[in-house]
Amino acid sequence: MAASEMPTRAPLRPVREAQPWRAGSWQAFPAAQMPHYEDPAELRAALDQLERLPPLVTSWEVLALKELLADAQQGKRFLLQGGDCAETFADCTNEVIANRLKVLLQMSLVLVHGLRKPVLRVGRFAGQYAKPRSADTETIDGVTLPVYRGDLVNGPEFTPAARRPDPKRMLEGHARSGMTMNFVRALIDGGFADLHHPEYWNLAWVERSPLAAEYRHMVAGISSAMHFMETLAGPIGGFQRADFYTSHEALLLPYEQSMTRQVPRQWGWFDLSTHFPWIGMRTAALDGAHVEFCRGIRNPVAIKVGPAMHDDQLQRLIDILSPDDEPGRLTLVHRMGAGGIAQHLPRLIDAVKATGRRVLWVCDPMHGNTEKLGNGVKTRRFANIRSELEQAFDIHAAAGSRLGGVHLELTGEDVTECMGGARNLSEADLGRAYKSSVDPRLNYEQSLELAMLIVRKSGGGAD
Ligand code: PEP
Ligand code: CO
Repeated sequence: MAASEMPTRAPLRPVREAQPWRAGSWQAFPAAQMPHYEDPAELRAALDQLERLPPLVTSWEVLALKELLADAQQGKRFLLQGGDCAETFADCTNEVIANRLKVLLQMSLVLVHGLRKPVLRVGRFAGQYAKPRSADTETIDGVTLPVYRGDLVNGPEFTPAARRPDPKRMLEGHARSGMTMNFVRALIDGGFADLHHPEYWNLAWVERSPLAAEYRHMVAGISSAMHFMETLAGPIGGFQRADFYTSHEALLLPYEQSMTRQVPRQWGWFDLSTHFPWIGMRTAALDGAHVEFCRGIRNPVAIKVGPAMHDDQLQRLIDILSPDDEPGRLTLVHRMGAGGIAQHLPRLIDAVKATGRRVLWVCDPMHGNTEKLGNGVKTRRFANIRSELEQAFDIHAAAGSRLGGVHLELTGEDVTECMGGARNLSEADLGRAYKSSVDPRLNYEQSLELAMLIVRKSGGGAD
């Protein structure tokens, strides 16, 4: 649409404000991407149980994260948000959880060292179980069934039983999110993130990685600096632990509503299924249920911003979701694709500037770069991921804005899902270890390479 055809901007605080918000007020708005539960009584029974179960996070953690995100908005911290595209119930295991943590800890060490600023670690985990899909159904050999929407909703197997949306899965998802959080918290409290022991984060299968030597060299430098400081000053606090916050797409609204609570000595409502919910690209309609739900919770929230986002739509989303311009409240995660970012990001940065509101800009270089190979396999080329991220830094810098974080899909498992990177994975390599049920993820080396790239683009560099 040409600039002259763009609708004029609506006044601040559109009509929605006239309607009071409730945890269930989203139900009066069109809700995209929602499964159809056949039996309302069965749904009600599951939600009744969920409403009585304890939440997964606390309001004070949520508010603490908001302050850290406010720091990131001011350039005092860098956000590293990463994890699976879709967690699965089957992957709620010791190895998968610990390995993902190892990759994130190694990346954050590279970032802290190179950027010389604290890194805010947010996992795409402990609840990333619901997925938006491009169609409601899937047809194979003339048989049509509901599409797989993530383990929180139904099962991936192509059978009527598995594909039936089952409300009891929300109870299972809540339990597995709780187990994941519990294990992450216990590892960290037990010393897993202690900088004195970076060897805890080594992954067995990466011994011969081309990047491991550079990483080990950096770790040796950090260890000797820590040793030097502690020799002079005695044990220094802050090296022992690294906090993790959780995030997921707030997609399945009945589930999110059941975890939305009021707490003593705080005003308002918190979605206590996660610290940091986000609104996906397919559910960011101004008059949609997901925006209605998120406007009323006190959590920090993020919106995915794709190439189709209209300037005016983004401005109005900011009005709705951050009417008071509260520090840390709103994060914009742009995901344009390497070929689209130069065209779309500058206009959106200008649109946000025109509102005068504060946001945290974050780059997701994954979702705009997904492609399907001739054999139907979904992949992403590392060169495109890298290019989008590099362009993001440059475009923000040129616009007098700031890229304050990255949002990545990655795993600590030995997978070959994205092509390229340090080992230059080819199309033929994808067959070796393609495990994702949804989007292709970065493996360890590709993740570490991106962390090193971020340091270089931010003007830092390993000593
Ligand atoms: C995702 O983050 O897995 C996702 C579906 O992203 P988007 O909404 O940006 O497409
Ligand atoms: Co994804």
